[in-house]
Amino acid sequence: MVTTPVLPSDYLDLVSPLRAGGDLRGRIEAVHPETGDAATIVIRPGRGWRGHTAGQYVRIGVDVDGVRLWRAYSVTSPTNRSDGRITITVKAIPDGKVSNHLVRRVQPGTLIQLDQATGDFVLPEAKPAKVLYLTAGSGITPAMGMLRDTEFDDVVMVHSAPKPHDVIFRTDLHDLVADKKLRLTELHTDTDGMLDIARLGELVPDWAERETWACGPAGLLDAAEAHWTEHGVPERLHTERFRPTVVVTGDGGQVTFVATDKTVEADGATPLLDVGEEAGVLMPSGCRMGICFGCVTPLTAGAVRDLRTGEITEAGPDVLIQTCVSAAAGPCDIER
Ligand SMILES: Cc1cc2nc3c(=O)[nH]c(=O)nc-3n(C[C@H](O)[C@H](O)[C@H](O)COP(=O)(O)OP(=O)(O)OC[C@H]3O[C@@H](n4cnc5c(N)ncnc54)[C@H](O)[C@@H]3O)c2cc1C
Ligand code: FES
Repeated sequence: MVTTPVLPSDYLDLVSPLRAGGDLRGRIEAVHPETGDAATIVIRPGRGWRGHTAGQYVRIGVDVDGVRLWRAYSVTSPTNRSDGRITITVKAIPDGKVSNHLVRRVQPGTLIQLDQATGDFVLPEAKPAKVLYLTAGSGITPAMGMLRDTEFDDVVMVHSAPKPHDVIFRTDLHDLVADKKLRLTELHTDTDGMLDIARLGELVPDWAERETWACGPAGLLDAAEAHWTEHGVPERLHTERFRPTVVVTGDGGQVTFVATDKTVEADGATPLLDVGEEAGVLMPSGCRMGICFGCVTPLTAGAVRDLRTGEITEAGPDVLIQTCVSAAAGPCDIER
């Protein structure tokens, strides 16, 4: 009562933000530019940090223009980094709120919220004999986390980026090649064109024998999944997507955010998470692509459409929806 409306933990945060027992935080200690639009952010996690497995991602909560926004980023540091710090590597995308803030504006010393690492895009305990990393653009980040963490006898990477200077971690990759720890094919799509997955065998003749981790734009991953399935080896391919694949849209409707008492028009393609944030409603979120369940919210009236499958969910008692992959399917009420 003495400290109301500020909680005692808020005072503790002022003196010891990274202490054990509070919400997990991290302090940004350095920002290292990687390319013209990508940077590696060095984070000192608070005492409750339980570590990560190579390939996993963390959700971070960052204040951008006074609004706390959550996004997911792959950990790019190895698990045994001696100073206990972790890194994420962020590529600024056009109009991206958090990515531009992290790449261009955030200052060392900034405190962020941090979740424990999660995700099953990881290396298996038993080392595969042959590995392929198939990556493009910022999709190189989880693969770099793995490359830095675990050495294999035979590892190949096929990485695409528009131009040589767009290749994130280019120097580190070339150092690994010089040390004979990696065989690398770098494709520069501005001059070489996009990778035609049907011709992967020309670059990596034994690709079908390799345990493969692929991360990049939806086009690359869709093509890879089809290719591996067609050749009868889908179990050898592991993929990580940074955005949900939207397959179905339909008519939208009027969305009412009941707790905030706001009603807005929404189309049938925009996730309700974006609709709410745009309207100034406080919306919980995490991965923004349907995997973490950090955005679940009661649907109290109307119906929504799952953008990944087209499935319609109607309101009812205890009906929860993932706002990051659901769009209005007619008028609906959301308990936010
Ligand atoms: C498991 C996981 C791991 C991830 N790891 C990384 C990583 O290591 N490095 C990294 O840079 N990003 C990573 N991402 C993507 C990251 O979480 C954000 O989506 C990205 O930084 C864009 O956020 P933003 O706030 O800048 O864009 P927003 O302001 O949310 O979006 C701006 C515009 O860009 C579009 N958009 C949103 N996300 C993307 C995207 N990924 N690519 C292209 N367009 C997009 C939106 O539809 C919107 O039109 C990861 C995502 C997931 C789910
Ligand atoms: S934000 Fe992760 S499931 Fe919606």
